[in-house]
Parts: sequence; C-alpha cells; structure tokens
Amino acid sequence: MQLSSDKMIARKDDGIGWVIFNNPQKHNALTHDMRKALLEIFDAYDADDEVRVIVLKGAGEKAFVSGADISQFDEGDREAREDVSHRAWARYGQSPKPVIAMIHGYCLGGGLLVALNADLRIASEDAQLGVPAARLGIAYPYDGVRKLVDSVGPIKAKEILFTGQRYSGAQAASMGLVNEVVPLAELENRVRAIADVMRNNAPLSMRASKTLVDEICKSPEDRDMAACEAIALICANSEDLAEGKLAFKEKRRPVFKGR
Ligand code: COA
Repeated sequence: MQLSSDKMIARKDDGIGWVIFNNPQKHNALTHDMRKALLEIFDAYDADDEVRVIVLKGAGEKAFVSGADISQFDEGDREAREDVSHRAWARYGQSPKPVIAMIHGYCLGGGLLVALNADLRIASEDAQLGVPAARLGIAYPYDGVRKLVDSVGPIKAKEILFTGQRYSGAQAASMGLVNEVVPLAELENRVRAIADVMRNNAPLSMRASKTLVDEICKSPEDRDMAACEAIALICANSEDLAEGKLAFKEKRRPVFKGR
C-alpha cells in the first residue's frame, strides 16, 4: 500500500512511524487532502506491529504546522470538510500507540490543535506556538479548546485565545503547553531518545495508560469505563506481563511483543 503522498509523508524507522506534514511553501498548512492522507497513515500504523511509537513532524526548517490552509476555508462543501477535519484531528487521540509531536518553528491554530491531540509534545527553543483565531474571526472547536484548557488551565487558555499571540518554546513549556523544550539542534535526537524508551516498554501497558488518562479527562458522563476495564483485563492476561515478571526475576531486559 502506498501511504505517502507529496504533502503527507509516512516513513517507518526503528519502531517509529513518522508522519511528516510536507507543505513547506505554506509552512505546512494543512489541506483537506493532507487530512485524508493522515487518516490512512494512522490506520496503517495502528495495524502495524513494527510501529511502536508515532512521531508527527513538519518538513523544512520553518514550521511544524501553520494551521489549516486558510485558502481552502471557502472551498467545496463545508460540512464534508469539517467532518474530515474533525476525524483527522481526533484520529491520533484514538490511536492505541503513543503519539509524540516534534515541534519546531510555527505551530499555530489548527497546528497547535494537532500537537495538543498528541500524547507528548517536545518543542525546540525556536518554536512559536499560538492560536490566532481572534485574528481570523474563527471559533475553535469544543474538543480542541478543551484540550487547550486541560493543558494550560482556563486563565492561560483565555490569554492564548484572546490575544492570538505567539509563545516561544520556553514559554510554552513553562505554562504546560509542551512537555519539554530543547535547542533546535537536539530536537530530533531528544525525540528519538524518548521514542526509544517507549519502543522498548510494554505496548499494552502504555495503551492502558493512554486509555485511562484520556477517559479521566472526559466529562464523567462521557467516560467509557468498560474500555478502561477491558484494557486492564487484556494487560492482566497478556504474554507481556508474564515476560515482564520473568525478565525481572532473571534480571534481564524484557522483550515485549504487544500481546
Ligand atoms: N494557510 C494558508 N497559507 C498559509 C498559511 C495557512 N495557515 N500559513 C502560511 N501560509 C502561506 C502564506 O500565505 C505565504 O504564501 P505566499 O508565499 O503565497 O504569500 C506562505 O505560506 C509563506 O508565509 P508568510 O506569511 O510569507 O511567512 P512568514 O514567515 O512571514 O509568516 C506565519 C508565517 C505562519 C506567521 C504567517 O504565514 C501566518 O500568520 N499564517 C497564518 C497562520 C494562521 O492563522 N493559522 C491558523 C489557521 S487555523
């Protein structure tokens, strides 16, 4: 199956499934076709046991993602466009695998929402993060704003949204918008090192953690407690748990298979 398209690149490498936004002429602005390609890439990575961690990054030197492609705002059927947009945005939240956003340069608007739906965000010092909604006159979707509030709290969320200003990597880290900030030259190595740790950890255990954290962040009436119980049971009965216990006893590194 050919996954990559010219503006959306999928590349597997050492347990990492890279998802590369490749529209550098527009600072990686997200087009409708890129979102559709992204959905296909995630379906393929989720089904691929070789992929243990997914990393999102922007091509070129200038940007992670500069937001939705503004030139497409009035194109085609709005409902169909918004449907794909919502599904693509929600998609990495639904992946059972850990998703890391590797952020350099511009990470704006819909680009910040992309990053917010990843599980971890590692930014370079040169990153510029913000939501210029108020400069365009658009309202951001409920789920996206909720993620923002979950990350930085209502006071900072309002500042970010009301001003539309851009924040450096260090400012973003200090308000909890990203996990960590590193010099640009170290960004990829740092992300690879984190992915490497996760690649060797038990996939089902990380999946359980992701499910639980995400369900806890939902409103109580929306929580899927059955999913939380089901994944706990899968872990309890897994070959990997037996391997983890045996490896501990034998004082060696466990080799997990994700089953
Ligand atoms: N959608 C469509 N085109 C975009 C874009 C976006 N989100 N972001 C950048 N571009 C285009 C610019 O229009 C420009 O195209 P041109 O060369 O045909 O004029 C090109 O990318 C380069 O951008 P430019 O503005 O010249 O670069 P810059 O370094 O001066 O500024 C930004 C970069 C990202 C700050 C600026 O382009 C910007 O504010 N973009 C919009 C960001 C935004 O509002 N995102 C939220 C959308 S949900």
